[in-house]
Amino acid sequence: MLYKFFRFFLFRLDPEIVHEVLLFLLSLAPVRWILWLCFRFSWHYDDPKLEKNLGGLRFKNPVGLAAGFDKNAKALLGFQALGFGFIEVGTVTPRPQMGNPKPRIVRFEKEEALVNWLGFNNDGIAQVVERLKSVKSKMKIPVGLNIGKNSDTPLEKATDDYVICIERANPVVDFFVINISSPNTPELRRLAEPRFLEELLSRVQRVSHHPVWVKLSPDISQDQLPQIIALCEKYKVSALVATNTTIDYSLLPAAHLSQGGISGNPLRLKSTHLLKALKSQLSSNVGKVGQMALVGVGGILSAQDAQEKISAGVDLIELYTGLIFEGPGLIKKIKRTLL
Ligand SMILES: Cc1cc2nc3c(=O)[nH]c(=O)nc-3n(C[C@H](O)[C@H](O)[C@H](O)COP(=O)(O)O)c2cc1C
Repeated sequence: MLYKFFRFFLFRLDPEIVHEVLLFLLSLAPVRWILWLCFRFSWHYDDPKLEKNLGGLRFKNPVGLAAGFDKNAKALLGFQALGFGFIEVGTVTPRPQMGNPKPRIVRFEKEEALVNWLGFNNDGIAQVVERLKSVKSKMKIPVGLNIGKNSDTPLEKATDDYVICIERANPVVDFFVINISSPNTPELRRLAEPRFLEELLSRVQRVSHHPVWVKLSPDISQDQLPQIIALCEKYKVSALVATNTTIDYSLLPAAHLSQGGISGNPLRLKSTHLLKALKSQLSSNVGKVGQMALVGVGGILSAQDAQEKISAGVDLIELYTGLIFEGPGLIKKIKRTLL
């Protein structure tokens, strides 16, 4: 209720400015204390039954912060205080980059959607690793690093970018997420093609000291799935994250889009369909190889939406757009419903 009141004013402002201000506030120590107190006395909802163990990592609860929200690891303690069970930082690239010109995020209030074409704006791996180092001892939940390639790195050299990021971040994170699915970096999605994916995963697994997850696009075709799954299994990927934003603009017809990725409510069913397809293909592989976990993300704006993903067979879920539209109370609502 309180969030809906603030939202009325926040939604009158530019989405990216609001985001930066909220991140700044979340990064302040006094705000973290206030959050911690709110969490303790009203949002607190933890129960041993919510705990999950995956690939050697212990998740206090299955609700995580999706990539892109805290790209540069500026407010991790704040997000921990909000009650998340894990956090994905990034997407980070080897060199800092500005991303596309602003404005580059649009909010669609009635449709409960965002469209963004940020283009991996980030501070670069060196600075993000420094920030991760400074909070590592205070983090009680797993922190993953979502990594991608610089926009001017040619596809043939993309793997080098992922390897650079992993080598630098190995000492400060708990898992890596290989982003081959953002629609706003030209050709990035082509890394899901077998000839690129095989090289990428084989080199990544050689250098990573931690579980490796792969984040998929909701726009991949059913025909592509078996090959992607086979390669992920071959290179011992621990989890598949589905999904990133979509470029299926028929899902948001009123917007007349020509660029950007859609997140939020219009994406929900498309992401759930992919999760179901992944689950059924993974289930038919049981016995052949260790089964990969599934992380469901895309259009979770209510506890029912979270339940839909769980019913599709996911082990963990992540939030982005739901947090903007519903506020931090959504985390507790989901945890309560899951119990
Ligand atoms: C503004 C914005 C920025 C994002 N940045 C990233 C990113 O840097 N890397 C990434 O893998 N996904 C990114 N995403 C995608 C989200 O992590 C998530 O996969 C997607 O938004 C679907 O979930 P949702 O419907 O809950 O938002 C971004 C999404 C939004 C809306």
